[in-house]
This record gives sequence, C-alpha cells and structure tokens, in this order.
Amino acid sequence: MNLAWGITGAGHFLRESFEVFKELKHNKPELKVTTFISRAAEEVIRMYGLANELSNISCGSYLEECYYEREQGDSFPKTGRFLLQKYDALIVTPATSNTTAKLAYGIADTLVTNAVAQAVKGGVPVFIVPVDIAGEIESRMPFFIDREICMRCELCPPAQQCPKQAITDQIDLLKCDGCGLCITLCSYGAIRGDLAKLKVRDVDSRNVTILKELMGITVLNHPQKVTGMIKKLEKMQK
Ligand SMILES: Cc1cc2nc3c(=O)[nH]c(=O)nc-3n(C[C@H](O)[C@H](O)[C@H](O)COP(=O)(O)O)c2cc1C
Repeated sequence: MNLAWGITGAGHFLRESFEVFKELKHNKPELKVTTFISRAAEEVIRMYGLANELSNISCGSYLEECYYEREQGDSFPKTGRFLLQKYDALIVTPATSNTTAKLAYGIADTLVTNAVAQAVKGGVPVFIVPVDIAGEIESRMPFFIDREICMRCELCPPAQQCPKQAITDQIDLLKCDGCGLCITLCSYGAIRGDLAKLKVRDVDSRNVTILKELMGITVLNHPQKVTGMIKKLEKMQK
C-alpha cells in the first residue's frame, strides 16, 4: 500500500501524528509513505524536535520521498501523482485551521491543499484530521523562557551551549530545533514547554462542518483514527 501524508504547521496533534505513522511503518515495513510538508510544517516540526524522525517514515526512495513545499515551486507538479493513481489514500494530519479553511473553500494554493485537490480529482480517498474542531483544546507549546523564573545569569549555560545558538534573552524559535538541551542546562527551570488551553474559534468549527460535507473527504477527530481507516482500506482492496 502507498500512502501520502500531508503535514501542516500545527503543534497540536503533531507528535501524535508522527506516532501513528511510525507505528504504521513499524507494523508494516512494506508500506510506502510519501510526505508532503507545508512551509509552516517544516518550521514547526523542527521547533518540536521531530525533524530527524521524518526519515524513519519516508526514507527518500521512490514513493517514500519527503516533499517540502519550500522546494516545490508554485504549481506543485508532484501532486500530479494523485491523478496517476500512485497512492491509495492521502492523510492530512495535523491540519491547521488555516489549511482547513482553505480546503473548505476549495483553495489549492499550498502544497498540502493542492495535494488534497488533486487527490479528490483523481478519486484517491482523503482523510483530514483538523486540530480545531470544537470547544477547548490543550496544546503543548514550543520551548520558551519564563521571565519570572529566569535569574538573568551573567553566564547563561543554555545560551552558551545551545547547538543552534537560538537563545539570547529569549528563544528564537526559527533557529531552535527542539532538542531540549537548554531545559537540562538551566538550574532554575526557567525554560519550559508548557501546555496551553486554547478556545476553538466558531469560524474554524464551521469550516470543519463544511469539510465534512465535501466529496471525497473524510474528517477524523484524532490522528489515532487513521490506523483504523487504513485497515478498512486494506480490507476493501483484498
Ligand atoms: C509553534 C507553532 C505551533 C502552531 N500550532 C498551530 C496549531 O496547533 N494550529 C493551527 O491552526 N496553527 C498553528 N500554528 C500556526 C500555523 O503554523 C500558521 O497558521 C501557518 O500559516 C499554517 O500554514 P499551513 O496551514 O500551510 O501549514 C502554529 C505556529 C507555531 C509557530
């Protein structure tokens, strides 16, 4: 079975999405996964320390490539593969509220939204896991310096030893690769990656409702639901 995985720039459900694909590959080494990564996803994956895990899922050979939006031009020729029936399904997890909104209104101007458009046109089943569905969600934030705890040490071990030189009086998340070394180096526990409670906007909930009604798209409410959907697809193929 050949799967396409679309990742967008959401911290919420990101680790869970990686866990699901890692487990799928672990249980079925013959499964091929091509990964399509939005510009924002590339940054967010790095911030959460997950960049090195991509190669365990998509090793780089044919139909197991990692396609970064940054490198894909403006017309996304690689998404033509969906019209050529190269994939059994496209799974977008996590799907940001931005991508969900674009999909709800048929916009296809990013790598992942374009992949969805081509997949639907090519009759390839699409599964989307939106992060903002309804109510409140709890999400882990990338690392930050808690200014109330920070002692402003003259020689700050995290700043001195950060392999990415991402720390000054704050953490530059565009440089940070989420390795977590700084957490172990700060004796005061001033560097943290806390859970934050977020309210889902009504517009995002409405977009999910629209998405559920669209042809060829199935909305799942958690990355863990992906495994069951793949099993169902496999049964249907037998
Ligand atoms: C650390 C971090 C975490 C983020 N998490 C989320 C998230 O959980 N949900 C969301 O909708 N946007 C989140 N964003 C914002 C998106 O990355 C941003 O809206 C981006 O434009 C989405 O582009 P994409 O949908 O093409 O990936 C996050 C941004 C950062 C820096």
